[in-house]
Amino acid sequence: QAHTPLSGKRALVTSGPTHEPIDPVRYIANRSSGKQGHAIAEALARLGAAVTLVSGPTRLPDPPGCAVVAIETAREMLAACEAALPVDIAVCAAAVADWRVAGTSDRKLKKDGGGPPSLSLTENPDILATLSQAGPRRPALVIGFAAETGDVVAYATAKRARKGCDWIVANDVSLGTTTFGGADNTVHVIRADGAEAWPTMGKDAVGARLAEAIAAHFQTPTP
Ligand code: PMT
Repeated sequence: QAHTPLSGKRALVTSGPTHEPIDPVRYIANRSSGKQGHAIAEALARLGAAVTLVSGPTRLPDPPGCAVVAIETAREMLAACEAALPVDIAVCAAAVADWRVAGTSDRKLKKDGGGPPSLSLTENPDILATLSQAGPRRPALVIGFAAETGDVVAYATAKRARKGCDWIVANDVSLGTTTFGGADNTVHVIRADGAEAWPTMGKDAVGARLAEAIAAHFQTPTP
């Protein structure tokens, strides 16, 4: 018999990078492959949740059992997430660009001999913070990720408080790690009652264990 402790629950997962346009042909992006977010979406669906996966551009197939919404920019990701509400569970694993180019050009920027253009940046909306502070539409369980370089648990603990999410999954993205793009991940899961270090495992296994922790939370809510 299928193990479906999350049947009847709705989940929203964000995954992948965002692409922030400079002009019609160029964009700013990051090294996120979507592997971690997609694995979480698939694992939640396997446990019976109705999953909407909002994803930036990746090379991955759509995970089985999920409704996938493809977006490019942070602002599109926010709109797609808001359209997916209400949900019981939100997991924000996407590497959302903190900034976008202000005043993007409708025409391709030309090399006109006048030197390189200077780009000015403006702040993107914060999807995790918006979901965490969504008042009556707030998902019952909001989980963020924290990509840190050094002092991972301390920075992620502060990020959890600042953004207002319930749990935060911290991973080290320092130079030399393959957290962005690789097959494995080493995470600390931080809840109100402290941090739990998980051993290094495949991103699929991280997704499966996180989905089980979420299911256990709805069985017996933990802080
Ligand atoms: O995609 P992979 O190659 O598998 O790599 C996985 C990963 C490293 C991208 C993933 O495990 C991860 O850490 N995702 C979060 C990356 C990130 O942007 O971290 P952050 O510390 O900058 O952001 C903190 C949280 O706020 C994240 O939940 C992020 O989704 C969210 N955020 C950030 C900025 C923003 N404008 N909106 C957001 O929602």
